[in-house]
Amino acid sequence: MSPPTWSPSSWRGHPAEHQPEWPDEAAAEAARSRLKAMLPLVFAGEARQLKASLAEVAGGRAFLLQAGDCAESFHDFSAITIREKLKIMLQMSAVMIYGSTTPVVKVGRIAGQFAKARTAPTETIDGVELPSFRGHMVHDDAPTAVARVPDPERMIQAYHQAAATLNLLRAFTKGGFADLNRVHMWNQEFVASSPQGQRYERIASEIERALRFMAAIGIDLGDAQSLHQVDVWTSHEGLLLDYEEGLTRRDSTTGDWYDCSGHMLWIGERTRQLDGAHIEYFSGVHNPIGCKLGPTATPEDVVDLAERLNPAREAGRLTLISRMGAGRVRELLPPLLRAAREAGQPVVWACDPMHANVFKTDTGIKTRRFEVIVDEIEGFFEACREEGAWPGGVHLEFTGDAVTECLGGADTVLEESLSSNYMTLCDPRLNARQSLDLAFHVAELMRDAWKPTTEM
Ligand code: PEP
Ligand code: CO
Repeated sequence: MSPPTWSPSSWRGHPAEHQPEWPDEAAAEAARSRLKAMLPLVFAGEARQLKASLAEVAGGRAFLLQAGDCAESFHDFSAITIREKLKIMLQMSAVMIYGSTTPVVKVGRIAGQFAKARTAPTETIDGVELPSFRGHMVHDDAPTAVARVPDPERMIQAYHQAAATLNLLRAFTKGGFADLNRVHMWNQEFVASSPQGQRYERIASEIERALRFMAAIGIDLGDAQSLHQVDVWTSHEGLLLDYEEGLTRRDSTTGDWYDCSGHMLWIGERTRQLDGAHIEYFSGVHNPIGCKLGPTATPEDVVDLAERLNPAREAGRLTLISRMGAGRVRELLPPLLRAAREAGQPVVWACDPMHANVFKTDTGIKTRRFEVIVDEIEGFFEACREEGAWPGGVHLEFTGDAVTECLGGADTVLEESLSSNYMTLCDPRLNARQSLDLAFHVAELMRDAWKPTTEM
């Protein structure tokens, strides 16, 4: 049940951080009412299925892989980009499942990740101070003052791009592309030639052998749907509340409200204020919800956030995404894990090793080090082990392309080569090789992870 005073627009009575100031209120109102007339992008029953899968994660029986762009682009939008992202997601999950024999719940930062919260209101590009880039749902990224004026029509464009992306994702995941018999074909050329690509080939061959073995002993694999189709769910930061409200629908079977812009939505580090508009809005929709927790989060914050977002203590409803920084996760996370446990909150704990590990090179390029990303994940697993919590998943920024945005990895992207293919609109992403490399590290950690022995 939604709280009694809640409605899809009740957030408007609370302070809303990081919302665009639409210059023309009539145009904004027109866009809001058009969104309200659009078809839902996802069905409430799907959000419930994802919640059930996340309940498995909360209980220590599955793992969450949430990954995708920092910011999706209106310009770099093609079937190929989506396919390559899906390939690396499928490869990573094959490696993780094979290495740990634990199911992996796959959630993309995709089909809606168009709005960004920014720490600084302005940024300086080539000596010119401009409003910070806030995502293509708000304005264009070109470095001119005109391009940075918010335009509410972009919410409609974001909706259409999300619809088309989701459609293709469904086609790929249900139409044969994700069939386990194609496990070799997910290895892209530029990945296959690398050491981690070759390591993947060996696992793919093992999986093929296992399938042939099962067929040989008479198991009918043709009917096993889980071999031929996968679920890849959509998620984005539910930042721009005009958009989220516009796509809020009441489910006809249960009467409950759902945010039908994506299967899972998360609340960012900058908008998790307890009395703020984002917590108000997400307290009333029934999707699975994530919330980022940075270094300032206290045990009381965890208890209060969980009480607001998951008063019924429903497993799978709430995912808390720790992003403390590699140097601090071992110290800062354990008290939070303890607070959730003592409050009887069955949360999924996930690790975002990206957002607290960004730095600028001497030449001013924003980047992250692969080794530091791995270190934060290791620290997360250690903290979970110390507190007897299940390390439920990772939340990553990646792309299927051969970009040079993060430093290091087996592939060793060097500082001087960063600018050779630096394409991101916002934060630096792992390229496909680095992502696969990371999956091998995570699979090892998962295999050795502490497992809950009793039902949670
Ligand atoms: C993000 O996930 O893109 C992001 C901005 O993260 P955070 O809210 O944790 O800073
Ligand atoms: Co980011």
